[in-house]
Amino acid sequence: TQSTRPVVLIAEKLAPSTVSVFGDEVEVRHVDGTDRAALLAAVADADALLVRSATKVDAEVFAATNRLKVVARAGVGLDNVEVPAATARGVLVVNAPTSNIVSAAEHAVALLLSLARRIPAADASLRGGEWKRSSFSGVEIQGKTVGVVGLGKIGQLFAQRLAAFGTELIAYDPYVSAARAAQLGIELVELDELLSRADIISIHLPKTPETKGLIGTEQLARVKPGVLIVNAARGGLIDEDALAEALREGRVGGAGVDVFVTEPTTASPLFELPNVVVTPHLGASTSEAQDRAGTDVARSVLSALRGDFVPDA
Ligand code: MLT
Repeated sequence: TQSTRPVVLIAEKLAPSTVSVFGDEVEVRHVDGTDRAALLAAVADADALLVRSATKVDAEVFAATNRLKVVARAGVGLDNVEVPAATARGVLVVNAPTSNIVSAAEHAVALLLSLARRIPAADASLRGGEWKRSSFSGVEIQGKTVGVVGLGKIGQLFAQRLAAFGTELIAYDPYVSAARAAQLGIELVELDELLSRADIISIHLPKTPETKGLIGTEQLARVKPGVLIVNAARGGLIDEDALAEALREGRVGGAGVDVFVTEPTTASPLFELPNVVVTPHLGASTSEAQDRAGTDVARSVLSALRGDFVPDA
């Protein structure tokens, strides 16, 4: 089906504001990006493809396109888009690099507080008909050493928020200078030092071949006993089995986890452990972040389709 207007294919649920940006300059079509056959068929006529995190945009998808000019990721991470395959076909890849950074940082804080005060377990217990005050004693955040792994946009927002709790902040990030970190009131350290000093560790890294499995059995052997670990970045940055083992042994006191090696999933060794708080990849799931992600990428897609300059990710 040919169309005179460019066809924009939306492959996941995006904020309604996304479509409003397009007006009637384009024809918007929808497909379920997780239905592979439907995606491959629909992408044949598309000039632009919009996805969130569930659609795998790989070489097979690019091979099925005929006039695709731009792929847009309504979010930050590009790990579900095979960028070299896009480049090989001359397809532009855009994302919304600042759309959900506040939401992601706030979610990491929420996981940490839930963990420190055992809110999900206490909530379940009380709703279950028990009044067990003595079972749910927690720890304070004030006075703790917080280790931020990855001091990019989200890591910095997380650190700023934790500073307000009266913490000592240390961070590991090979791409940030000690001077920049010092400006933020954060001491830059090597990963090993962070692991041995931090009472609380939060991960804020993209998933790349370099960062995958960065924290595994060896690293978890060096942590301060009872450390609380938060991962609202990507599954697999911390080895899930190694983390489960460290939690079982009590070496890690608790973990707040929003992201998993395989997503979607309803089976992780972490789900069986009491000292764990989990959410199904909700870091970016706020109305504000989804609005921004949708409208930011829609604007970039329009620019790309018009042949205008597209702001760099
Ligand atoms: C991101 O990379 O921005 C998040 O994973 C977004 C999302 O959940 O869509």
